Amino acid sequence: MSDGATVGVAALLADARVCVVGGSGGVGKTTTSAAIAAGMAARGLRVAVVTIDPAQRLATALGLDELDNEPRRIEPARFAAAGLPLEGELWAMTLDPKRTFDELIEKLAPDDATREQILANRVYRELSDAIAGSQEFTAVAKVHELAQEGDWDLLVLDTPPSRNALDFLDAPDRLSAFFDGRALQTLLRGGGAGLRLIGRGTGLVLGLLKRVTGAELLSDLSDFFRLLGGLLGGFRERAEQVEALLRAPGTQFLLVTSPEREPIEEAIFFRQRLKAARMRLGGTIVNRVHADELEGEDGALADLPALLEREAGLSPPLAARVAVAFADEHALARRDAANVIQLAKRLGPGVPLLQVPLLDGDVHDVGGLVRLQAQLFGPMRDG
Ligand SMILES: Nc1ncnc2c1ncn2[C@@H]1O[C@H](COP(=O)(O)OP(=O)(O)OP(=O)(O)O)[C@@H](O)[C@H]1O
Ligand SMILES: [Mg+2]
Repeated sequence: MSDGATVGVAALLADARVCVVGGSGGVGKTTTSAAIAAGMAARGLRVAVVTIDPAQRLATALGLDELDNEPRRIEPARFAAAGLPLEGELWAMTLDPKRTFDELIEKLAPDDATREQILANRVYRELSDAIAGSQEFTAVAKVHELAQEGDWDLLVLDTPPSRNALDFLDAPDRLSAFFDGRALQTLLRGGGAGLRLIGRGTGLVLGLLKRVTGAELLSDLSDFFRLLGGLLGGFRERAEQVEALLRAPGTQFLLVTSPEREPIEEAIFFRQRLKAARMRLGGTIVNRVHADELEGEDGALADLPALLEREAGLSPPLAARVAVAFADEHALARRDAANVIQLAKRLGPGVPLLQVPLLDGDVHDVGGLVRLQAQLFGPMRDG
Protein backbone atom coordinates (compact mmCIF):
# COMPACT_ATOMS: atom_id res chain seq x y z
CA MET A 1 0.00 0.00 0.00
CA SER A 2 1.73 3.18 -1.08
CA ASP A 3 1.76 5.94 1.48
CA GLY A 4 -0.07 9.07 0.54
CA ALA A 5 -1.53 7.59 -2.63
CA THR A 6 -4.99 8.25 -1.30
CA VAL A 7 -5.82 11.06 1.06
CA GLY A 8 -7.53 9.72 4.12
CA VAL A 9 -9.32 11.71 6.78
CA ALA A 10 -6.29 11.55 9.11
CA ALA A 11 -4.28 13.58 6.59
CA LEU A 12 -7.11 16.08 6.10
CA LEU A 13 -7.32 16.63 9.85
CA ALA A 14 -3.60 16.59 10.59
CA ASP A 15 -3.61 20.15 11.95
CA ALA A 16 -7.22 20.39 13.05
CA ARG A 17 -8.43 21.03 16.56
CA VAL A 18 -12.07 21.30 15.53
CA CYS A 19 -13.76 19.46 12.69
CA VAL A 20 -17.23 20.57 11.62
CA VAL A 21 -19.10 17.99 9.58
CA GLY A 22 -21.65 19.71 7.36
CA GLY A 23 -23.89 18.76 4.47
CA SER A 24 -27.51 18.46 3.52
CA GLY A 25 -30.09 16.29 5.22
CA GLY A 26 -29.65 12.55 5.46
CA VAL A 27 -26.30 12.28 3.68
CA GLY A 28 -24.51 10.65 6.61
CA LYS A 29 -23.22 13.54 8.73
CA THR A 30 -23.92 11.95 12.10
CA THR A 31 -22.49 8.53 11.31
CA THR A 32 -19.50 10.09 9.55
CA SER A 33 -18.82 12.36 12.55
CA ALA A 34 -18.82 9.37 14.88
CA ALA A 35 -16.61 7.33 12.55
CA ILE A 36 -14.15 10.22 12.16
CA ALA A 37 -13.94 10.68 15.92
CA ALA A 38 -13.35 6.95 16.39
CA GLY A 39 -10.68 6.90 13.68
CA MET A 40 -8.81 9.80 15.23
CA ALA A 41 -9.08 8.26 18.71
CA ALA A 42 -7.65 5.05 17.25
CA ARG A 43 -4.70 7.14 16.08
CA GLY A 44 -3.89 8.26 19.60
CA LEU A 45 -5.90 11.45 19.98
CA ARG A 46 -8.19 12.50 22.80
CA VAL A 47 -11.34 13.20 20.84
CA ALA A 48 -14.86 14.32 21.69
CA VAL A 49 -17.71 14.17 19.22
CA VAL A 50 -20.86 16.23 19.64
CA THR A 51 -23.66 14.45 17.82
CA ILE A 52 -27.09 15.80 17.06
CA ASP A 53 -30.10 13.51 17.16
CA PRO A 54 -28.25 10.29 16.41
CA ALA A 55 -30.41 7.35 15.41
CA GLN A 56 -31.49 5.53 18.56
CA ARG A 57 -29.62 2.37 17.71
CA LEU A 58 -26.40 4.26 17.10
CA ALA A 59 -26.80 6.17 20.36
CA THR A 60 -27.35 2.94 22.25
CA ALA A 61 -24.41 1.28 20.55
CA LEU A 62 -22.18 4.12 21.70
CA GLY A 63 -23.67 4.23 25.18
CA LEU A 64 -25.07 7.71 24.54
CA ASP A 65 -28.48 7.17 26.11
CA GLU A 66 -27.47 9.16 29.16
CA LEU A 67 -28.47 12.70 28.26
CA ASP A 68 -26.52 15.00 30.53
CA ASN A 69 -25.22 17.32 27.85
CA GLU A 70 -21.60 16.52 28.63
CA PRO A 71 -19.27 14.16 26.76
CA ARG A 72 -18.91 10.69 28.18
CA ARG A 73 -16.03 8.39 27.55
CA ILE A 74 -16.87 5.44 25.36
CA GLU A 75 -15.59 2.16 26.67
CA PRO A 76 -12.57 1.28 24.53
CA ALA A 77 -13.59 -2.38 24.76
CA ARG A 78 -16.58 -1.70 22.48
CA PHE A 79 -14.25 -0.67 19.68
CA ALA A 80 -11.49 -3.14 20.48
CA ALA A 81 -14.03 -5.94 20.16
CA ALA A 82 -14.96 -4.62 16.71
CA GLY A 83 -11.33 -4.59 15.61
CA LEU A 84 -10.42 -0.96 16.26
CA PRO A 85 -8.24 -0.53 19.34
CA LEU A 86 -8.38 3.05 20.57
CA GLU A 87 -4.89 4.27 21.35
CA GLY A 88 -6.33 7.58 22.48
CA GLU A 89 -9.70 8.36 24.03
CA LEU A 90 -13.12 8.62 22.45
CA TRP A 91 -15.73 10.76 24.16
CA ALA A 92 -19.18 11.45 22.82
CA MET A 93 -22.32 13.35 23.65
CA THR A 94 -25.68 14.11 22.16
CA LEU A 95 -26.47 17.80 22.08
CA ASP A 96 -29.31 19.03 24.26
CA PRO A 97 -29.88 22.44 22.63
CA LYS A 98 -32.28 23.83 25.22
CA ARG A 99 -29.98 22.90 28.03
CA THR A 100 -26.93 24.30 26.28
CA PHE A 101 -28.75 27.55 25.83
CA ASP A 102 -29.86 27.74 29.43
CA GLU A 103 -26.34 26.92 30.55
CA LEU A 104 -25.07 29.81 28.52
CA ILE A 105 -27.49 32.13 30.28
CA GLU A 106 -26.41 30.71 33.60
CA LYS A 107 -22.79 31.47 32.83
CA LEU A 108 -23.49 35.00 31.69
CA ALA A 109 -25.95 36.05 34.39
CA PRO A 110 -24.32 38.31 36.95
CA ASP A 111 -26.03 36.64 39.91
CA ASP A 112 -28.37 33.82 40.86
CA ALA A 113 -31.43 36.03 41.16
CA THR A 114 -31.05 37.43 37.63
CA ARG A 115 -30.45 33.97 36.30
CA GLU A 116 -33.61 32.60 37.87
CA GLN A 117 -35.64 35.55 36.64
CA ILE A 118 -34.44 35.14 33.10
CA LEU A 119 -34.99 31.40 33.01
CA ALA A 120 -38.49 31.89 34.38
CA ASN A 121 -39.41 34.76 32.04
CA ARG A 122 -42.01 33.59 29.54
CA VAL A 123 -40.78 35.70 26.69
CA TYR A 124 -37.32 34.25 27.21
CA ARG A 125 -38.70 30.75 27.32
CA GLU A 126 -40.64 31.11 24.09
CA LEU A 127 -37.80 32.73 22.23
CA SER A 128 -35.09 30.49 23.59
CA ASP A 129 -37.11 27.45 22.57
CA ALA A 130 -37.10 28.78 19.05
CA ILE A 131 -33.37 29.48 19.13
CA ALA A 132 -32.52 26.19 20.75
CA GLY A 133 -34.91 24.47 18.37
CA SER A 134 -32.91 25.73 15.46
CA GLN A 135 -29.90 23.98 17.06
CA GLU A 136 -27.34 25.59 14.84
CA PHE A 137 -26.07 28.06 17.33
CA THR A 138 -26.22 25.87 20.38
CA ALA A 139 -24.16 23.21 18.63
CA VAL A 140 -21.31 25.60 17.92
CA ALA A 141 -21.66 27.19 21.35
CA LYS A 142 -21.25 23.78 22.96
CA VAL A 143 -18.10 23.06 21.01
CA HIS A 144 -16.78 26.47 21.94
CA GLU A 145 -17.40 25.68 25.58
CA LEU A 146 -15.69 22.29 25.30
CA ALA A 147 -12.73 23.88 23.52
CA GLN A 148 -12.38 26.35 26.38
CA GLU A 149 -12.83 23.98 29.23
CA GLY A 150 -11.46 20.66 28.16
CA ASP A 151 -8.12 19.34 27.14
CA TRP A 152 -9.06 17.91 23.76
CA ASP A 153 -6.83 17.13 20.82
CA LEU A 154 -9.82 17.21 18.51
CA LEU A 155 -13.49 18.15 18.73
CA VAL A 156 -15.78 16.77 16.05
CA LEU A 157 -19.08 18.55 15.53
CA ASP A 158 -21.98 16.96 13.75
CA THR A 159 -24.42 19.55 12.37
CA PRO A 160 -28.20 19.59 12.54
CA PRO A 161 -30.41 17.88 10.02
CA SER A 162 -31.42 21.06 8.31
CA ARG A 163 -32.81 21.28 4.83
CA ASN A 164 -30.42 24.09 4.27
CA ALA A 165 -26.91 23.05 5.22
CA LEU A 166 -25.91 26.70 5.40
CA ASP A 167 -28.21 27.72 8.20
CA PHE A 168 -25.70 27.24 10.84
CA LEU A 169 -23.10 29.51 9.31
CA ASP A 170 -25.41 32.36 10.25
CA ALA A 171 -25.88 31.06 13.75
CA PRO A 172 -23.66 33.55 15.59
CA ASP A 173 -25.50 36.38 13.84
CA ARG A 174 -28.82 35.00 14.86
CA LEU A 175 -27.65 34.77 18.40
CA SER A 176 -26.41 38.34 18.50
CA ALA A 177 -29.74 39.49 17.14
CA PHE A 178 -31.50 37.55 19.84
CA PHE A 179 -29.46 38.95 22.63
CA ASP A 180 -29.54 42.56 21.70
CA GLY A 181 -33.28 42.32 21.30
CA ARG A 182 -33.14 43.10 17.59
CA ALA A 183 -34.87 39.90 16.70
CA LEU A 184 -37.72 40.52 19.07
CA GLN A 185 -38.08 44.16 18.15
CA THR A 186 -38.22 43.38 14.47
CA LEU A 187 -40.64 40.64 15.21
CA LEU A 188 -42.90 42.89 17.23
CA ARG A 189 -42.90 45.44 14.46
CA GLY A 190 -44.21 42.65 12.32
CA GLY A 191 -41.27 42.43 9.97
CA GLY A 192 -40.43 39.20 8.24
CA ALA A 193 -36.72 39.78 8.85
CA GLY A 194 -37.18 39.11 12.54
CA LEU A 195 -38.63 35.74 11.81
CA ARG A 196 -35.77 34.87 9.61
CA LEU A 197 -33.35 36.02 12.26
CA ILE A 198 -34.64 33.92 15.06
CA GLY A 199 -36.04 30.86 13.56
CA ARG A 200 -38.16 29.27 10.96
CA GLY A 201 -41.81 29.77 10.55
CA THR A 202 -44.42 32.11 11.80
CA GLY A 203 -45.74 29.68 14.40
CA LEU A 204 -43.30 31.30 16.76
CA VAL A 205 -45.05 34.66 16.90
CA LEU A 206 -48.45 33.09 17.17
CA GLY A 207 -47.28 30.78 19.91
CA LEU A 208 -45.69 33.62 21.76
CA LEU A 209 -48.71 35.85 21.58
CA LYS A 210 -51.04 33.06 22.53
CA ARG A 211 -49.13 32.17 25.62
CA VAL A 212 -48.16 35.64 26.77
CA THR A 213 -50.98 38.10 26.39
CA GLY A 214 -52.18 41.49 27.51
CA ALA A 215 -50.78 43.22 30.53
CA GLU A 216 -48.70 40.21 31.39
CA LEU A 217 -47.11 40.37 27.97
CA LEU A 218 -46.09 43.95 28.54
CA SER A 219 -44.54 43.33 31.92
CA ASP A 220 -42.82 40.16 30.74
CA LEU A 221 -41.51 41.97 27.73
CA SER A 222 -40.11 44.86 29.68
CA ASP A 223 -38.54 42.42 32.16
CA PHE A 224 -37.09 40.51 29.26
CA PHE A 225 -35.40 43.55 27.80
CA ARG A 226 -34.19 44.76 31.18
CA LEU A 227 -32.78 41.38 32.20
CA LEU A 228 -31.16 40.59 28.89
CA GLY A 229 -29.84 44.12 28.61
CA GLY A 230 -27.52 43.34 31.50
CA LEU A 231 -26.15 40.31 29.71
CA LEU A 232 -25.71 41.97 26.39
CA GLY A 233 -22.00 42.63 26.57
CA GLY A 234 -21.30 39.05 27.56
CA PHE A 235 -23.53 37.73 24.80
CA ARG A 236 -21.88 39.78 22.12
CA GLU A 237 -18.50 38.64 23.26
CA ARG A 238 -19.62 35.03 23.26
CA ALA A 239 -21.14 35.27 19.80
CA GLU A 240 -17.91 36.80 18.53
CA GLN A 241 -15.86 34.03 20.10
CA VAL A 242 -18.09 31.41 18.58
CA GLU A 243 -17.77 33.00 15.19
CA ALA A 244 -14.00 33.26 15.67
CA LEU A 245 -13.90 29.56 16.48
CA LEU A 246 -15.53 28.77 13.14
CA ARG A 247 -12.80 30.81 11.42
CA ALA A 248 -9.87 29.67 13.53
CA PRO A 249 -6.90 28.15 11.66
CA GLY A 250 -7.44 24.90 13.55
CA THR A 251 -11.05 24.56 12.42
CA GLN A 252 -11.71 22.45 9.35
CA PHE A 253 -15.05 21.87 7.73
CA LEU A 254 -15.66 18.54 6.10
CA LEU A 255 -18.51 18.49 3.70
CA VAL A 256 -20.51 15.29 3.35
CA THR A 257 -22.69 14.69 0.32
CA SER A 258 -24.30 11.76 -1.37
CA PRO A 259 -23.58 11.27 -5.06
CA GLU A 260 -27.05 12.54 -6.02
CA ARG A 261 -27.68 15.74 -7.88
CA GLU A 262 -29.40 17.83 -5.22
CA PRO A 263 -27.00 17.29 -2.31
CA ILE A 264 -24.14 17.91 -4.73
CA GLU A 265 -25.62 21.26 -5.74
CA GLU A 266 -25.98 22.12 -2.09
CA ALA A 267 -22.42 21.05 -1.36
CA ILE A 268 -21.12 23.36 -4.06
CA PHE A 269 -23.16 26.22 -2.73
CA PHE A 270 -21.94 25.47 0.79
CA ARG A 271 -18.39 25.60 -0.45
CA GLN A 272 -18.93 29.06 -1.90
CA ARG A 273 -20.50 30.27 1.31
CA LEU A 274 -17.60 28.91 3.37
CA LYS A 275 -15.17 30.67 1.10
CA ALA A 276 -17.04 33.95 1.37
CA ALA A 277 -17.11 33.57 5.15
CA ARG A 278 -13.39 32.77 5.16
CA MET A 279 -13.87 29.36 6.71
CA ARG A 280 -11.73 26.37 5.80
CA LEU A 281 -13.01 23.47 3.80
CA GLY A 282 -10.69 20.56 4.54
CA GLY A 283 -12.32 18.21 2.07
CA THR A 284 -15.47 16.68 0.68
CA ILE A 285 -16.71 13.21 1.45
CA VAL A 286 -18.99 11.63 -1.09
CA ASN A 287 -20.83 9.04 0.93
CA ARG A 288 -22.86 6.01 -0.12
CA VAL A 289 -21.34 5.67 -3.56
CA HIS A 290 -22.48 2.60 -5.49
CA ALA A 291 -19.40 0.58 -6.33
CA ASP A 292 -18.71 -0.23 -9.96
CA GLU A 293 -18.27 -4.00 -9.84
CA LEU A 294 -17.39 -4.13 -13.51
CA GLU A 295 -14.63 -1.57 -13.24
CA GLY A 296 -15.52 -0.04 -16.55
CA GLU A 297 -15.85 -3.38 -18.41
CA ASP A 298 -19.46 -2.72 -19.37
CA GLY A 299 -19.31 -5.27 -22.15
CA ALA A 300 -19.44 -7.97 -19.49
CA LEU A 301 -23.11 -7.11 -18.84
CA ALA A 302 -24.23 -8.72 -22.08
CA ASP A 303 -22.47 -11.97 -21.20
CA LEU A 304 -23.75 -12.03 -17.64
CA PRO A 305 -26.85 -14.27 -18.06
CA ALA A 306 -24.84 -16.93 -19.86
CA LEU A 307 -22.09 -16.65 -17.28
CA LEU A 308 -24.56 -17.04 -14.41
CA GLU A 309 -26.06 -20.15 -16.02
CA ARG A 310 -22.71 -21.70 -16.70
CA GLU A 311 -20.72 -20.80 -13.60
CA ALA A 312 -23.42 -20.49 -10.92
CA GLY A 313 -25.75 -23.15 -12.30
CA LEU A 314 -28.75 -20.78 -12.36
CA SER A 315 -31.78 -21.60 -14.49
CA PRO A 316 -32.12 -19.29 -17.52
CA PRO A 317 -35.08 -17.27 -16.08
CA LEU A 318 -33.32 -16.81 -12.76
CA ALA A 319 -30.05 -15.90 -14.46
CA ALA A 320 -31.92 -13.29 -16.50
CA ARG A 321 -33.52 -11.78 -13.38
CA VAL A 322 -30.23 -11.62 -11.51
CA ALA A 323 -28.59 -10.03 -14.54
CA VAL A 324 -31.29 -7.34 -14.68
CA ALA A 325 -30.86 -6.54 -10.98
CA PHE A 326 -27.14 -6.37 -11.50
CA ALA A 327 -27.53 -4.06 -14.49
CA ASP A 328 -29.73 -1.73 -12.39
CA GLU A 329 -27.07 -1.53 -9.72
CA HIS A 330 -24.49 -0.96 -12.36
CA ALA A 331 -26.48 1.94 -13.80
CA LEU A 332 -26.47 3.55 -10.36
CA ALA A 333 -22.72 3.09 -10.12
CA ARG A 334 -22.32 4.74 -13.52
CA ARG A 335 -24.53 7.64 -12.49
CA ASP A 336 -22.62 8.08 -9.21
CA ALA A 337 -19.27 8.03 -10.99
CA ALA A 338 -20.43 10.69 -13.45
CA ASN A 339 -21.77 12.87 -10.64
CA VAL A 340 -18.55 12.55 -8.65
CA ILE A 341 -16.53 13.62 -11.69
CA GLN A 342 -18.77 16.66 -12.07
CA LEU A 343 -18.44 17.48 -8.40
CA ALA A 344 -14.66 17.22 -8.49
CA LYS A 345 -14.56 19.48 -11.52
CA ARG A 346 -16.75 22.10 -9.94
CA LEU A 347 -14.97 22.05 -6.59
CA GLY A 348 -11.66 22.57 -8.32
CA PRO A 349 -8.28 21.07 -7.50
CA GLY A 350 -7.93 22.62 -4.03
CA VAL A 351 -10.51 20.43 -2.33
CA PRO A 352 -9.59 16.81 -1.58
CA LEU A 353 -12.44 14.49 -2.42
CA LEU A 354 -12.99 11.20 -0.69
CA GLN A 355 -15.40 8.51 -1.76
CA VAL A 356 -17.08 6.15 0.68
CA PRO A 357 -19.01 3.21 -0.74
CA LEU A 358 -22.56 2.36 0.16
CA LEU A 359 -22.10 -0.26 2.84
CA ASP A 360 -24.38 -3.26 3.29
CA GLY A 361 -27.04 -2.28 5.77
CA ASP A 362 -27.30 0.81 7.95
CA VAL A 363 -24.41 2.00 10.05
CA HIS A 364 -26.00 1.77 13.45
CA ASP A 365 -23.59 -0.16 15.59
CA VAL A 366 -19.92 -0.07 16.54
CA GLY A 367 -19.08 -2.66 13.87
CA GLY A 368 -20.67 -0.43 11.24
CA LEU A 369 -18.76 2.61 12.48
CA VAL A 370 -15.52 0.67 12.33
CA ARG A 371 -16.23 -0.32 8.72
CA LEU A 372 -17.10 3.25 7.82
CA GLN A 373 -13.96 4.40 9.62
CA ALA A 374 -11.84 2.02 7.54
CA GLN A 375 -13.29 3.57 4.37
CA LEU A 376 -12.66 7.10 5.59
CA PHE A 377 -9.14 6.58 6.85
CA GLY A 378 -7.77 3.79 4.71
CA PRO A 379 -5.60 1.10 6.25
CA MET A 380 -3.94 1.74 9.61
CA ARG A 381 -0.21 2.23 9.35
CA ASP A 382 1.86 -0.23 11.31
CA GLY A 383 3.92 1.00 14.21
N1 LIG B 1 -21.65 4.58 3.76
C1 LIG B 1 -22.86 4.20 4.20
N2 LIG B 1 -23.38 3.01 3.81
C2 LIG B 1 -24.59 2.61 4.21
N3 LIG B 1 -25.39 3.33 5.01
C3 LIG B 1 -24.95 4.53 5.44
C4 LIG B 1 -23.66 5.03 5.06
N4 LIG B 1 -23.49 6.24 5.65
C5 LIG B 1 -24.61 6.49 6.35
N5 LIG B 1 -25.50 5.47 6.23
C6 LIG B 1 -26.85 5.38 6.78
O1 LIG B 1 -27.58 6.47 6.23
C7 LIG B 1 -28.53 6.97 7.16
C8 LIG B 1 -28.37 8.43 7.36
O2 LIG B 1 -27.15 8.69 8.02
P1 LIG B 1 -26.99 9.84 9.10
O3 LIG B 1 -28.04 9.76 10.13
O4 LIG B 1 -25.59 9.83 9.54
O5 LIG B 1 -27.25 11.10 8.16
P2 LIG B 1 -27.33 12.62 8.59
O6 LIG B 1 -26.71 13.40 7.50
O7 LIG B 1 -26.78 12.80 9.96
O8 LIG B 1 -28.89 12.84 8.60
P3 LIG B 1 -29.67 14.10 9.22
O9 LIG B 1 -29.47 15.20 8.22
O10 LIG B 1 -31.07 13.61 9.31
O11 LIG B 1 -29.04 14.39 10.53
C9 LIG B 1 -28.35 6.16 8.43
O12 LIG B 1 -29.29 5.13 8.46
C10 LIG B 1 -26.94 5.59 8.28
O13 LIG B 1 -26.80 4.37 8.98
MG1 LIG C 1 -27.67 13.61 11.69
